[in-house]
Order: sequence, then C-alpha cells, then structure tokens
Amino acid sequence: MLSFDLRTSAPTLNYKIMTGLITPRPIALVTSLDVDGRVNAAPFSYFNAFGTDPAIVVLGVGNRPGTKVAKDTAANIAATHEFVVHLVDEAIAQQMNVCSTEFPHGVNEIEQAGFTPLASVVVKPPRIAESAVHFECVEDQRLVIGNNRLIIGRVLMAHVREGIMDPANQHVIDGAFYPLGRMHGRGWYTRTEDQFEMNRPV
Ligand SMILES: Cc1cc2nc3c(=O)[nH]c(=O)nc-3n(C[C@H](O)[C@H](O)[C@H](O)COP(=O)(O)O)c2cc1C
Repeated sequence: MLSFDLRTSAPTLNYKIMTGLITPRPIALVTSLDVDGRVNAAPFSYFNAFGTDPAIVVLGVGNRPGTKVAKDTAANIAATHEFVVHLVDEAIAQQMNVCSTEFPHGVNEIEQAGFTPLASVVVKPPRIAESAVHFECVEDQRLVIGNNRLIIGRVLMAHVREGIMDPANQHVIDGAFYPLGRMHGRGWYTRTEDQFEMNRPV
C-alpha cells in the first residue's frame, strides 16, 4: 500500500488524499449575506448532514487561495449567522461551477451564474429558485481547526420541489431526485442514477 504520514504532510497532499478518496461528496451551494446585505453564493463539498434532532448540517470552509483570509461564505456567516444550503443536481451543475469562481468580495454570484433569487422564509439570505432542495440555516457553532472552519448549522426550514417527496409519507420518490456527487481532482463529478436497494437486517 502507499502510506502517507499526515502528521507531517503538506496541505496540498492532504487535499489530494482527502478529497480524492473520500468520495462521492454531496455539494452544498450556499447563499449568505455580508453585513451590508450583499449576496454571496459558493459551493462546498466538505458538507453533509450530521443529525436530525435537531437537524444539523456542517460545512468545511478554508481560506481564500494563497491567503490566510476566510472565504466570503465563512466571513459572512460569522458576521450574520444565517445561510441557505441548496442541493445540486446536473441541471444546475454549470451554474454551481460559476459560483465557485474566486470573485472579489461583494460580487453577487447568483447574478453571475444567471440564477433566480427567491426570498427565504425565516432567514435573510435569498434562495436559488433553480435548485430543487433548499435548507434555511442558522449558524449554531463554529470550530476553527488550523485553517479549517467547521460551520455547524441548524436547519430551520426545508423546501423541496414538488414531485420529489411523496406528500402522503414524506418518502423521497425513487428516481425523482439525483443530486451530483463530487469526486477526485478539481473537476470530477458523479451522477447518482445507478442505485440499488439493500434492506437492513432485522
Ligand atoms: C464542487 C465544489 C466544491 C467545493 N468545496 C469546497 C469546500 O468544501 N471548502 C472550500 O473551502 N472550498 C470549496 N470549494 C471552492 C469554493 O467554492 C471557492 O473557493 C469559492 O470561490 C468560495 O467562494 P466565497 O469566497 O464566495 O465563499 C469548492 C468548489 C467546488 C466547485
């Protein structure tokens, strides 16, 4: 086996190991506001659900490349504490990618990507109409470990496009939603159409 000692390895190697191998990862397209109310949107694949009582999501946000400065998403959430997580399917993949551009602070990526803003219900950052699933969140806690900021958010509201969940039992309907997974490197993704069922042992 190739073995790596992460006690001494460079962050660039850690990135290859962690993001190249821990795959696929879901993608959170996150909207937030700065203190002046300017809109920001950016994707994060250091993201997942971490609990349901209450509903918790976590984002892992690094520095702006080549700096020790937090990315806008982390700075905005530190200042205003609210954000919206949008799930990403193939229909909005290209626009999500535009939002990952390292624009200067204050640039509205929703506009840059040609997305349509939609008012949220309980938080101030807008939602993205083209996404099929939106989670309105408030920052609960933040862990700063080295240059990583783990933003722990409580989900206050979830919005799911019609046709994805059965309204009678709230189960996701087979074949109704295919979020993308992020794979290795800077540009590899996977579709999630190829699924199989395995029931849990009783
Ligand atoms: C699919 C995808 C996933 C990404 N995941 C992360 C991530 O988990 N953490 C991170 O710091 N940057 C991640 N990035 C890079 C950010 O999206 C990028 O740095 C963005 O410009 C940050 O924007 P902001 O400064 O407006 O927050 C990802 C990019 C893409 C395309």
